[in-house]
Amino acid sequence: MWAPLRDDLRRGRGGGPGRMAEPGAIVDAVGRALGGGGALDGARVVVTAGPTREAVDAVRFVGNRSSGKMGYALARTSWLRGAEVTLITGPAAVAAPYGVKVRGVETALEMRDAVLAEVGEADVAIHAAAVADYRPVSPSADKIKRGVAEEELIVRMVANPDIATESARLMKAGSVSAGFALETADLVERAGEKLAAKGFDLIVANRAGEADAGFDTDTNRVTILGRDMPPRQLPLMSKFAVAGSIMDLIEDRLRQGGRG
Ligand code: CTP
Repeated sequence: MWAPLRDDLRRGRGGGPGRMAEPGAIVDAVGRALGGGGALDGARVVVTAGPTREAVDAVRFVGNRSSGKMGYALARTSWLRGAEVTLITGPAAVAAPYGVKVRGVETALEMRDAVLAEVGEADVAIHAAAVADYRPVSPSADKIKRGVAEEELIVRMVANPDIATESARLMKAGSVSAGFALETADLVERAGEKLAAKGFDLIVANRAGEADAGFDTDTNRVTILGRDMPPRQLPLMSKFAVAGSIMDLIEDRLRQGGRG
């Protein structure tokens, strides 16, 4: 058997002589063996995905409805195109893509530490995680009991660091950084502001609150903005197809020499 394919299948979950690999793993390993040769071949890609959870007490957290599907599709597509992929993920509703190194985290601070440890070496960083902007200042070690407040319970929150902004400062010359903007209004304008403020080369804007796009759907409707690039509006597509379009643009940027 062709060596790269054989090695990939041997690394499969529960692998061993005589044990058949998962059909999905075989399809992906063949896809990777047949693909490659592009700008992502051998590149180091870091993807963040999923929500973060910020503890309120021993059993409760502040979170959001991100499923992780978009970030996982990006990690899978990068691997299929020959990259070495690290997926840094909050608790997600989907299975990890085959071949990808997964680092599971829970809070924004854990995600930040994991990302900052990796991005300095990365050729590509993609910030698809829905990071909680605030965390409770002092989570209770015990379960907060019903009677602690008569009518209102006030939980003080403090701002989390911006992982994408901190990462952008650590990335090497020639690399590419991409992020997402989730907006309810003025989509392109606000995404353009985030593109500049967070040091992204590309930003993928999507609208919150649509039934067939955004959080926890299999499809997405996005507009991609880039430095020196007019906004590119894509039709409703599967998240896997959206990931392909995003990775095409990232590959173009890598070929053009990435960030200075
Ligand atoms: N992001 C991040 N760290 C944070 C918050 C966001 O790295 N603490 C990243 C996200 O992964 C995404 C981008 O920044 O790539 C934009 O996230 P978004 O939620 O759209 O915007 P915010 O910066 O949170 O701003 P706002 O909530 O005001 O829209």
